[in-house]
Amino acid sequence: MKFFVDTADIAQIKELNDLGMVDGVTTNPSLIMKSGRDILEVTKEICDLVEGPVSAEVTATDAQTMIAEGRKLVKIAPNITVKVPLTWDGLQACKTLSGEGHKVNVTLCFSTNQALLAAKAGATFISPFVGRLDDVNIDGLELIEDIRTVYDNYGFETEILAASIRTVNHITQCALIGADVITAPPAVIKSMASHPLTDKGLAAFLADIEKTGQKIL
Ligand code: E4P
Repeated sequence: MKFFVDTADIAQIKELNDLGMVDGVTTNPSLIMKSGRDILEVTKEICDLVEGPVSAEVTATDAQTMIAEGRKLVKIAPNITVKVPLTWDGLQACKTLSGEGHKVNVTLCFSTNQALLAAKAGATFISPFVGRLDDVNIDGLELIEDIRTVYDNYGFETEILAASIRTVNHITQCALIGADVITAPPAVIKSMASHPLTDKGLAAFLADIEKTGQKIL
């Protein structure tokens, strides 16, 4: 499973990327606002840092302007993926931009039918939002499962990019279901390393070696 990092924070991307944990990056207008940076500048900086796909989201709502924005975004760097919303216009933009050979991430997906349409429109990635469904008492992981089944039934090559990941459990479950990619905030990815029994075991080992008075360095 690929790990994308869901942020426009350069320092955090760099830290995870140096450890080999970053297969790509996703941004959205809210994350750009949070970074306090210019969208084109920060996106370029991320693309220079990371080898994999970097999703940059359009801000128009009509297909023609989305297409024009997408064509501008792909000029930033060869690893740009154009992110379009899952609306009828977004699907039209997806069809055109993917037909021109650009990678397209169709975002804000909340149903299996939406995912089916995105695949037929040539999406490279579909982004179902797990956490935002959980927020309204709908099981977000069930959507990932359903899209996996439907895509496998018909051999769609669109990759399932599980988004709006809020917990480490979301990541485990997405991996078990067979999502192709997860995108998560850096803090969630880092907290995958934590386990209370690791902390407890380490404390016991350190206490025991201290009793022997030995040191390696
Ligand atoms: C995905 O591409 C989105 O940017 C992101 O995962 C949304 O997450 P949120 O629901 O935590 O804002």
